[in-house]
Amino acid sequence: MKPKRVKVYAPASISNLGPGFDVLGIAIDQPGDIVIAHRIREQGLTFTVVDTSRTVPADARSNVAAHVASLMMKECDPPFGIQLELHKQMPVGSGLGSSAASSVAAAVAVNALLPKPLKRNELLRFVVDGERKASGSPHADNATPSLLGGAWLIRSYNPLDVISIPIRNTLMWVVVHPHLMVQTREARTILPKSIPLTHAIRQWGNVSGLTAGLIAGDAGLIGKCMEDIIIEPVRARLIPGFSDVKRAALSSGAVACSISGSGPSMFAVTTSLKSARSIAAAMEKQFTEKARVGCDVYISRVNMEGAIILEMNTK
Ligand code: HSE
Repeated sequence: MKPKRVKVYAPASISNLGPGFDVLGIAIDQPGDIVIAHRIREQGLTFTVVDTSRTVPADARSNVAAHVASLMMKECDPPFGIQLELHKQMPVGSGLGSSAASSVAAAVAVNALLPKPLKRNELLRFVVDGERKASGSPHADNATPSLLGGAWLIRSYNPLDVISIPIRNTLMWVVVHPHLMVQTREARTILPKSIPLTHAIRQWGNVSGLTAGLIAGDAGLIGKCMEDIIIEPVRARLIPGFSDVKRAALSSGAVACSISGSGPSMFAVTTSLKSARSIAAAMEKQFTEKARVGCDVYISRVNMEGAIILEMNTK
């Protein structure tokens, strides 16, 4: 029986992981976006958004989920139409890969309805084009973990080549999202166009050490290498309370703390759930006191599944 209705969840992600600007990312359990896709008789795509906060465009031409779905339909040309419903649950401009999660959920849902579905990793290029549309840059460090789960290294963009990092998934990741918005597009325009060789050497040493640390599940090595001397100092000024939040995380036992993606969310890494909870409380307190904003807190291990089909119905 061919599926007629599919419901998909795609998770948030932490990209950059400190030194790995545009090349490192992991999936986390929550938050995430949901897309429901229905097969319909009339050809083409119809699109609706269910979004209580009204933060994403509701018209198909401007929305990334609709963009990704229509790219796939153009290429795969199914003999039916699709009605796509984006249930936008993730905060936009949060640094948690919100646009990637919408695009991933749309791609996986549309794919499940196709007469000849593509392999999961073949969906990546469509999702990355959604990222290009959302932020002007086709970065894959949120899209890949949200789609495929786990930790990823984007080895090359041209051609796109992503490498799964076989992590020891023992550490806890704390994410604190202050209720502020930073658009990735703007957070990229303030970055330097070139960097001194000495900085590059230190940064790629850290990226390599961090990758080794993730594979070994070595908290000490991860803590030492989660140092970003290029991007973090520039973007920190977009995040009120940044230094206080980072200091609070480290003095509460985090092995490292940095900006999640382009911010304003910040993440910290630690070895136990108990420690994660006290780090989260300390970070939240600083955001509340210094930046005078409310926060959402998410704690999880690395999500190894990525996007999942929650329901698939044949009628
Ligand atoms: N690597 C991208 C950036 C991720 O830092 O701009 C955006 O979420």
